[in-house]
Order: sequence, then structure tokens, then C-alpha cells
Amino acid sequence: MSIRIALAALLLLPTVAVAQTPPDGEAIFRRDCSACHGMDARNRVGPGLAGFWGRAAGAAENFRYSAAMRAKAEAGLRWDEETVRAYLRNPREVVPGGTMAYPGLRDEARLEALVAWLRERSAAQP
Ligand code: HEC
Repeated sequence: MSIRIALAALLLLPTVAVAQTPPDGEAIFRRDCSACHGMDARNRVGPGLAGFWGRAAGAAENFRYSAAMRAKAEAGLRWDEETVRAYLRNPREVVPGGTMAYPGLRDEARLEALVAWLRERSAAQP
């Protein structure tokens, strides 16, 4: 191996290592969601997310949802693997006119990690 190739390989190594570290769902939640949401039942700017996974949309007690979210809930929107992923990828596409001021998470690997973490955390709540 020539010195140049060996050097190039060395320079590439850290990049590869970083790319292979799986994104941390909890860190993404802390950065992107925790200003408005907790995984407990307490409502903040957004509804408390305790136990939201698997239940109907718009069901946190005492939270004032948008008319758009209430209409979606009446039409049968429930939070499951597919709907949570779609909502977090692009909130306005799933609930047009809703009040969640989050632009959406378009990076699939990060979205995947966040959704998996949410599913686990939500199930861990009573
Ligand atoms: C700027 C505040 C804000 C941010 C940031 C935010 N949300 Fe929200 N979220 C809201 C609001 C407000 C609602 C209610 C929307 C409505 O009524 O239309 C909501 C609704 C939701 C719902 C539906 C809950 C239910 O009871 O039906 C989920 C799930 C959710 N957010 C998850 C997240 C996640 C995960 C993130 C981070 C990726 C996030 N949100 C970022 C404010 C926010």
C-alpha cells in the first residue's frame, strides 16, 4: 500500500465511525421536543405524552388541542408506528392547521431512532 493510500484510509476512518453510530432517540427528544413536551402526564406548550402511543389522537386530559387535531381525532386518527412517524416527519401534512410548531424531522435514521424511543418510553408509563 502506498503511503498516500494509507493516509487517505486513515483520514476516512473517523468519518465512517461517526456515520455508524446510531442516532440517540432520547437526545433527539431532548433537543427537538422537550421544550414543549414531557413524557409524563403534565401538559406544557404541548400535551403530556405519557401513554400516548396506541391511543386516540387528542386525548391528553385538560389539553386544549387545535380544532384541526380534534377533527382528526374524531375521524379516527390514532398514534401508531405509521401515524407517529408521518406526523413527526411533517406535522402539517398529517394535521393541516394544527398548532404543533415543529417543522418536522426529515432525516430517516434520526426519525427512526426517535420513534423507537417514543414507543418504548410511552409503554413504560402507567
Ligand atoms: C413548539 C412546541 C412543540 C414542539 C417543539 C413539539 N411539539 Fe408536539 N405538540 C405541540 C402542540 C401544541 C401539540 C398539539 C397540536 C394540536 O392540537 O394541533 C402537539 C402534539 C403532539 C402529539 C400528539 C399528542 C396527542 O395527544 O394527540 C405528539 C405525539 C407530539 N406532539 C410529539 C412531539 C415530538 C416527538 C416532538 C419532537 C420531535 C414534538 N412533538 C415537538 C407542540 C410541540
